[in-house]
Amino acid sequence: MQQIIFVVDDSSAIRSLYKTVLESIGYRVVAFKSGKSLLDAVEAELPDLILMGAELQDTNCVDLATKVKSRPEYLLIPIIVISSTRSMDLRRNCFQAGVTDFILKNCTQKFLIERIKLILQRRETMQFNQHLAGQRFNVLIAEDSQALLALYGHMFEQMGCRPILCKDGEEAWNHLQQDSDVDLVLTDIEMPNMDGIELNHLIRSRSDFDQVPVIVVTRIDQQELLCELLTAGASDYISKPFIHEELQARVSAHLRTRLLYKEQQRLNNELQELNAYLEDRVRERTQDLHEANVETISKLAKVCDFKDLETGNHINRVKAYSEELGRAIGLSSEVVTRLGYSSMMHDLGKITTPDRILNKPGPLDADEWIKMREHSLAGASLLGDKQFFSMAREIALYHHERMDGNGYPKGLKGNEIPLSARIVAVVDVFDALISKRSYKPAWSQDEAIAELQRISDDHLDKRLVDMFVSMLDSGQLDYIRNIYPETSGSSLEIVSE
Ligand SMILES: [Fe+2]
Ligand SMILES: [Fe+2]
Repeated sequence: MQQIIFVVDDSSAIRSLYKTVLESIGYRVVAFKSGKSLLDAVEAELPDLILMGAELQDTNCVDLATKVKSRPEYLLIPIIVISSTRSMDLRRNCFQAGVTDFILKNCTQKFLIERIKLILQRRETMQFNQHLAGQRFNVLIAEDSQALLALYGHMFEQMGCRPILCKDGEEAWNHLQQDSDVDLVLTDIEMPNMDGIELNHLIRSRSDFDQVPVIVVTRIDQQELLCELLTAGASDYISKPFIHEELQARVSAHLRTRLLYKEQQRLNNELQELNAYLEDRVRERTQDLHEANVETISKLAKVCDFKDLETGNHINRVKAYSEELGRAIGLSSEVVTRLGYSSMMHDLGKITTPDRILNKPGPLDADEWIKMREHSLAGASLLGDKQFFSMAREIALYHHERMDGNGYPKGLKGNEIPLSARIVAVVDVFDALISKRSYKPAWSQDEAIAELQRISDDHLDKRLVDMFVSMLDSGQLDYIRNIYPETSGSSLEIVSE
């Protein structure tokens, strides 16, 4: 879109020259010979830039710039004053009136064109950045001058921001307490109720406002406060009277940083969500694998069931009794679960025991006992070396060890025998005693308890037997035999040895 430049100068030669030069490089130029005609034209159409002669027939550049900038909607129109004098006073007055640049009339055409291009480009970049951001920044403004507050409001609205206007520091702080969605704070220093210094301190005392830029508006004579303000965490300052474009440029710079911060936060949040999703998937896969492993265990245990005709529901009861006893002595739920499925494979090694020994109706001879005892080592060997089966491995290997060291296969004593194997030994013996076999009837629970107590200390872990007996006496384990009733009998290799 073609950019519009208004030229105002009382010299027709100058007007004509600027018009010719600027139109030749693509701008649309409208020239005026008086300040009034310029103000009338600005009412009808907003230019992108005004090129203004310092002295006009009806006014001067300072008054004319002041009038242009007094209307909020004209605040952001850049004004370049072309002066024939180097007067520092005029220059300072022009800047105080909101002029963007001050150029000498005798400068080269090239210099003038470059300045115009630069100023227009800076304006475009600012608009482009706002467009790029695609969002309205919330700018909190604390200023006790109603006129200045209104002016800031218009300025930030023109920048695409949402201004939140507060008449003093206290109102600004109250707003921040209720709504922390603020992207930048612009504050005056001297205000009633709460000044800018206190507001800046309070903002920096809150960790969630760490990244919110605070720009302080100072007077020239308040420079000594700057060090204190900046040390207390103020991000930037601007001294009154200031050029609007300068304030706009500083605000834009801080908002760009703010945008990057928010983008980084958004990416961090996305990354966290992605991590949580991946963790869920890993958890699901781990659970799948765990369930597959447990199912494998169940199937392996069933293989033993098929082979050893007398086990019946023995394996399921051993699992349930082991879990209950493990829980009663304070094992964690994770360990209890592991103990349960691991206990099911205590006799896995019997797969390798010849059927004639396994299902022999009468007592075993010495050679047959040697073969039978090999099931401990065989079971541990079949379970391999994976961590998942480590507890099952120690149970298979050590469930025939005795507290007095007269068990097999290693002859371990007391606490040398892993706790898991000691637990399974207690419940395995109990279940064998209360189960019917071809050469022995099922013992009553009281008889089985009396036998457990008789062989505790030398054979079984007395502490575990005591706990197990108290649980049996209370009736809390009765449900297990109801769920897994006796179907045919139970192996009795431990007590019959
Ligand atoms: Fe066994
Ligand atoms: Fe058993």
